[in-house]
Amino acid sequence: MNTVESINELRTLRRQWHREGKTVGFVPTMGNLHAGHLTLISAAREQCDIVVASIFVNPLQFGKNEDLDTYPRTIDEDKAQLDRHHTDVLFLPSVAEMYPRGLDEQTFVQVPGISDMICGNSRPGHFRGVATVVSKLFNMVQPDRAFFGQKDYQQLQVIRLMAADLSIDIDIQGIPTQRAEDGLALSSRNGYLTEEQRQIAPKLYACLLNLKTDLQNDRQPLSVLIEKYTAVLAQAGFKPDYIEIRHADTLEPVGDMDNQLVVLVAAFLGNVRLIDNLTVTRPEA
Ligand code: PAF
Repeated sequence: MNTVESINELRTLRRQWHREGKTVGFVPTMGNLHAGHLTLISAAREQCDIVVASIFVNPLQFGKNEDLDTYPRTIDEDKAQLDRHHTDVLFLPSVAEMYPRGLDEQTFVQVPGISDMICGNSRPGHFRGVATVVSKLFNMVQPDRAFFGQKDYQQLQVIRLMAADLSIDIDIQGIPTQRAEDGLALSSRNGYLTEEQRQIAPKLYACLLNLKTDLQNDRQPLSVLIEKYTAVLAQAGFKPDYIEIRHADTLEPVGDMDNQLVVLVAAFLGNVRLIDNLTVTRPEA
């Protein structure tokens, strides 16, 4: 695997791949790779001639009181894993390479509406940071396909909308969430959990599964279900941030006729914020 730190070096490679007619698959990450990321790499490997991964802990998408400084950085292990999974190029830019004019002077990409709801409401500016860095990375790598985990469901929809709005000709693929045996969605932030919190954490997914069953079995008002499962989470030891039941594509609030839904949940265990989601097809009313 070739590790590249500068945009110029990456562009030289990319021009060569395009001249040779090779398809390029891209997996953007913030590192601290786990089996979820490696599934994205494997999907890219299966579908494309060249696989590029990036590792960049993007300061622009962290809030002031969030974990930018403590975010796990495990570059040697990450490189070894990417190599084992036959990644061709790791793009590893510095903050200065990415934002040469500084964070305050940077041009932003803002996807209106969807960026301000749900997680965007709890984390103001987060999706603006994500959309900005992903559009920059897309311009640098110019892949044919890009691969994102469905665990970050709202992020995936923000990126899809951004690509459509900016006429970006990249096939955006959402890859199913990878879970531990007990159901906990894999995430770099799981490493922050104490042993006791790790025992509680899978109850987030259990809550989603039960809520999905309720949604499929009867048409109780959504507010009643949300209240019920918020109490279930609190009882289990979480501090719920939100449970939302939304339209699966637009993430807008659901009307009576909508049957393609997504349930999104965020909850704290101590200071650790966990998110998860499940799509649900409701039977016709
Ligand atoms: O999902 C992530 O790891 C990040 O939000 C991403 C897409 C790499 C942008 O920094």
